[in-house]
Amino acid sequence: QAADAFFAANRPVGLTFDDVTLATLFSDILPKDADTATALSENVTLSVPIISSDMDTVTESRMAIAMALNGGLGLIHYNMPAREQVKEVARVKRHIHGLIQDPITVSPKQSVGDVLDLIEAKNYDFRTFPVLDGGKLVGLLSGSTVRERYRSKNVGESMTARADIHTVSVKALEADPIKAADAFFTEHVGIHKMLVVDDEDHLRGLATFSDIERITSEISNRRRAARDSEFRLIVGAALAPVRLDDGTLDRDRIISHVSQLVDESIDCVAVSTAHGHTAGVGDMVRLVRDAFPSLTIIAGNVTSAAGVEYLADCGANAIKVGQGPGSICTTRVVAGVGIPQLTALHVAARGARAKGVKIIADGGITKSGDIVKALTLADAVILGGLLAGCREAPGEIMEINGKIYKQYRGMGSLAAMKSGSAARYGHNKNDTTRKLTAEGIEALKEVSGSLDEVLGTLVGGLQSGMGYLGAKDLTALKQNARYIRVSPAGQKESSPHDVIEIKAGVKG
Ligand code: XMP
Repeated sequence: QAADAFFAANRPVGLTFDDVTLATLFSDILPKDADTATALSENVTLSVPIISSDMDTVTESRMAIAMALNGGLGLIHYNMPAREQVKEVARVKRHIHGLIQDPITVSPKQSVGDVLDLIEAKNYDFRTFPVLDGGKLVGLLSGSTVRERYRSKNVGESMTARADIHTVSVKALEADPIKAADAFFTEHVGIHKMLVVDDEDHLRGLATFSDIERITSEISNRRRAARDSEFRLIVGAALAPVRLDDGTLDRDRIISHVSQLVDESIDCVAVSTAHGHTAGVGDMVRLVRDAFPSLTIIAGNVTSAAGVEYLADCGANAIKVGQGPGSICTTRVVAGVGIPQLTALHVAARGARAKGVKIIADGGITKSGDIVKALTLADAVILGGLLAGCREAPGEIMEINGKIYKQYRGMGSLAAMKSGSAARYGHNKNDTTRKLTAEGIEALKEVSGSLDEVLGTLVGGLQSGMGYLGAKDLTALKQNARYIRVSPAGQKESSPHDVIEIKAGVKG
């Protein structure tokens, strides 16, 4: 309601983050106790409401793994062949196995050479495999025997026999699998794989020592990774509205792509376009919703209540808001279209309330204070530029005049559109009769260290903001927000001033 009154008084002015500040309130909340958890749907919850953008200079598996370990979510971009994107998703889902319910197994009749070929073909980053015969556990092929020199040997003669393998019963894991796995590895010093079996000796799961160590240290550090119900990291992938030559959606290709992602247990897909309030994007969301009723769908981008309601009616769970606020965007310059981001979030929030869906603030966030302001209206934020300088972002590091940089480019830049993202901007990259009109630029970001550090600083800033507003969680942040319009002099006052800066402050 405070937002309604505030924006009504300022209509039709478009406001963005730096135009407003939030008023403080009495607080009995310490920043460290502010709970930043959010949900994008019934199935996807995050402990940190931050998502890394589905851009080809921001999110591939390495970034997505780091995001999920920090409690957020990474959206793998689509400027790569669909099968490569599926592999990227699989890399995230298999990263921390906690308990792998469906481990890759081999048979005693295979040769070590077959296993080496499998590792190569599937790009596995492990070399130890349970050996099954007729569904039953008969041995364990350890990494030390999976070598080129043993290529001609049989798995059966190379494996450690069943009698020599320590296993744990699936029943012993029911209450708290991580605690039980921790106890197993403490008891069996030197063993690095825990095989889980049922009463018939069927293999029911596998846990690795290093993953369990990492999980227990995360738990003791109170860092809550974002996981699915089977303890795997969560991940999303962007989908483009791929079209046939006649302009209609290529339904078979889209469904086959999403099926492969679902087979890898993807947690959500994002139908990512520059203009989401269109028949084409609506059709695409409906297509995916009809084929995959329980899959979490993010869609966008829109900047109106009607846009949110339209995509919600088509079946989206969470809607991206933002047209042209991004640090590499030129949509507003090129098309003369877009609404400053805080006003866009405000109108979009009305649509979200009407339909009971979530909204995600996408673009234009340059510091942690912007995240706090965005979350007074949205359920999560998407970051591009703030994460593009992290070690985990794809791309080469380059040195210019003693400083190190990474490339960061808009998905609507000419180079990115030629790599595949033209459909996001309503263009066809193979259409040589028309010139692609860029809506983004190619840029550089100074390398900013690891994602852990960058996200840690941003989440610290978010929790500070929540502390100032007496908000114990993000629902309270929305309820407690009171906005004050800032004058140009007030904006100047809000940043360091009248001093000679000798050490640049950490952005965020
Ligand atoms: P930030 O400000 O975090 O913004 O760098 C990232 C978001 O910007 C959007 N995006 C674009 N928008 N032209 C645009 O108008 C582009 O080329 C472009 N590339 C990305 C996208 O929503 C992203 O999450």
